[in-house]
Amino acid sequence: SNKYIVLGIETSCDDTGTAIIDKKGNLFAETLLSQNVIHLRYGGVNPLIARDLHRDNIERAVNETVMKAKLQFQDIDAIAVTVKPGLLFSLQIGVKYAKYLSKIYHKPLIPIHHMEAHALVARMYNNIDFPFLALLISGGHCLLTCVRGTDDFLLLGDTLDNAPGEVLDKVARRMKLRNIPDYSQLPGGRAVELAAENAKTFEVFEFPLPLHKQRDCNFSFSGLKDAFSRHLYKKESEHNIKGDEIIPEVNELCASFQYAVAKHIVHRAERALKFCILRNYIPVDNSTLVVSGGVASNNFIFKCLQCMGNAMKCNVLRPPPKLCTDNGIMIAWNGIEKINSGYPSTDMELIDIDPIA
Ligand code: KG4
Ligand code: ZN
Repeated sequence: SNKYIVLGIETSCDDTGTAIIDKKGNLFAETLLSQNVIHLRYGGVNPLIARDLHRDNIERAVNETVMKAKLQFQDIDAIAVTVKPGLLFSLQIGVKYAKYLSKIYHKPLIPIHHMEAHALVARMYNNIDFPFLALLISGGHCLLTCVRGTDDFLLLGDTLDNAPGEVLDKVARRMKLRNIPDYSQLPGGRAVELAAENAKTFEVFEFPLPLHKQRDCNFSFSGLKDAFSRHLYKKESEHNIKGDEIIPEVNELCASFQYAVAKHIVHRAERALKFCILRNYIPVDNSTLVVSGGVASNNFIFKCLQCMGNAMKCNVLRPPPKLCTDNGIMIAWNGIEKINSGYPSTDMELIDIDPIA
């Protein structure tokens, strides 16, 4: 029937996300309990703290969503839960709770791949047909994939070292952007973006283009990060910068780093697009590139991708920011996508699921 309702549960990293949606993608309710503020004090995600907070939050996150949706648990038809990839201890909390709910309410479980959910959620609000390209750029992810169907992903590229959000965060910390009142509450990448908007020029420092001779679609950001670090060290010595002082060219340095990151991302996305067109994986014109993840909310990087897309007759789009970052909606939606494409071939209740890190 059309009334099929799925509860989605996401606990792969540091956000406890839950949501309820129906077959058509109508969102009934969602809850997102974030741990970011707590993790900042530890300088990154601490897996054991993340697990403990998921454990504290999971029941509330589920109950709140069911309540806000004005439903009873009996109204839910299936439970979709992230089983991989992610922090094992965090995944275990979500999977364990999903199994518990499945058992007491006799609801089937649908195991979800976190990255596939990121890529597919764009289809919830946009009319995007398979196949399309997806670029996931965040603090933890960096990959390019050709999405050929609900269960058919062709991985084109991955990062060889860091994720772009990770290096933007490092650069923000290195530039002490947190000490600038306007930026103190922002994610590192957002602070870099705002500083860059105030720059008078963005080519104060020339970065090498990573992997420019590699004939694949992989990424590498650690070289950019190190080059930036060395350059900043030199500049700071020249200015005799001490302690909490901020370098006068802070905006220009952020702009040149952001430009280098954008250039690398665009270069790899363009390669992926050309490769897929050449192989007939995607149409020559009217193809689609979906950009998602926390870094997708960077307007400069996104515009650079759109420019490249325009030249290639490729439609470049991004889901709304709350769907770009980790959330329960994308997990519930992926459950719906699986149901709509005939999942499973066997009785769902027979499928025993376990988290895979
Ligand atoms: O997807 P997300 O919320 O969490 C995961 O990493 O899984 O992404 C967070 C990352 C952080 O590194 C943050 O600095 C970056 O996304 N970010 C941005 C912007 N907003 C958040 N990076 C660049 N520009 C932004 N406007
Ligand atoms: Zn994610």
